[in-house]
Amino acid sequence: MPGTTDNTAVAADWNLGPADADTCERLARTLSADGGDQVDSPAWVARARDAWDELPLPLRRAVRRFRRHSGPRGTLVIGGLPVDRAALPPTPAVPGSVQRQATVPAALLTMVACGLGEPLAYLAEKSGALVQDVVPVPGQEAFHGNAGSVPLSFHTENGFHPHPPDYVVFLCLRADHDRTAGMRVAGIRQALPLLTPADREALSAPEFRTTPPPSFGPDAASGAGAEPRPVLSGAAEDPDIRMAQLVTAPLTPRAAAALAAFGRACEATARTLRLTPGDLVVIDNRVTVHGRTAFRPRYDGADRWLQRTYASADLRRSRDHRPDDGHVLAR
Ligand SMILES: [Fe+2]
Repeated sequence: MPGTTDNTAVAADWNLGPADADTCERLARTLSADGGDQVDSPAWVARARDAWDELPLPLRRAVRRFRRHSGPRGTLVIGGLPVDRAALPPTPAVPGSVQRQATVPAALLTMVACGLGEPLAYLAEKSGALVQDVVPVPGQEAFHGNAGSVPLSFHTENGFHPHPPDYVVFLCLRADHDRTAGMRVAGIRQALPLLTPADREALSAPEFRTTPPPSFGPDAASGAGAEPRPVLSGAAEDPDIRMAQLVTAPLTPRAAAALAAFGRACEATARTLRLTPGDLVVIDNRVTVHGRTAFRPRYDGADRWLQRTYASADLRRSRDHRPDDGHVLAR
């Protein structure tokens, strides 16, 4: 029901048909046939970029339309991608886990990232890997980031950085045991009407300081050098967002009140996505915040497992941050 809001748990916007899923799998298997740690190599990304052109038309069309305009929710959920559950290894349970080896899921994510633009990673986060595991890690239950299992508050990805990703792409490999874990998403296009003119004005003023999230390591969180920025920028009627409830600090009383109102507007319009294996989620990080409900990991090899990659619509913009014109932002 495009254009409506609700708080209910939802499944995919649409599902890939079996023949199209087979085409995706064939292409992804070709890319992963040699195995090996290729995912971060420019040559492998180039092969994935070329393979994008051969993906089924409904998938390419949905992604291209989303790229032009990400809709009222700023989120696209496509079910039915090929994830061979029988062949999956145990869910990783170590800190900083990433996917450097070419696999079917890594190939799917990279092809889609190339359809959105180009994949992107940050050297300080998960060692700069282009495809990252989002898994619960023993002892990190309370960690406010992708290794945790306590609720994760609303945020845009890497809003502190001069070049945040334009898109965040997730593929669900395994759901959590209890099916209680939910990805929460809320878009500014639905939240904006709930904000007063005074709140919008305050959110558009450079009265907020956003520091790196905990996933960038303890040293990054000092916030040294972080310039005050607005939470909302660009077109007043369709603004971009940069914020994280955990690490965005309001610098004035009106900024604090407006940030609280923004949080309430997100809560009122949020959807909870209960992902199942094969669900692909594309989040327009410019207009959408995301978070997660709590869940209970068992650390038995069958815990919740998402893989994630970032995409930039215009990689050139960040050239001065990327040595050798690679896909990793070194600073
Ligand atoms: Fe996130």
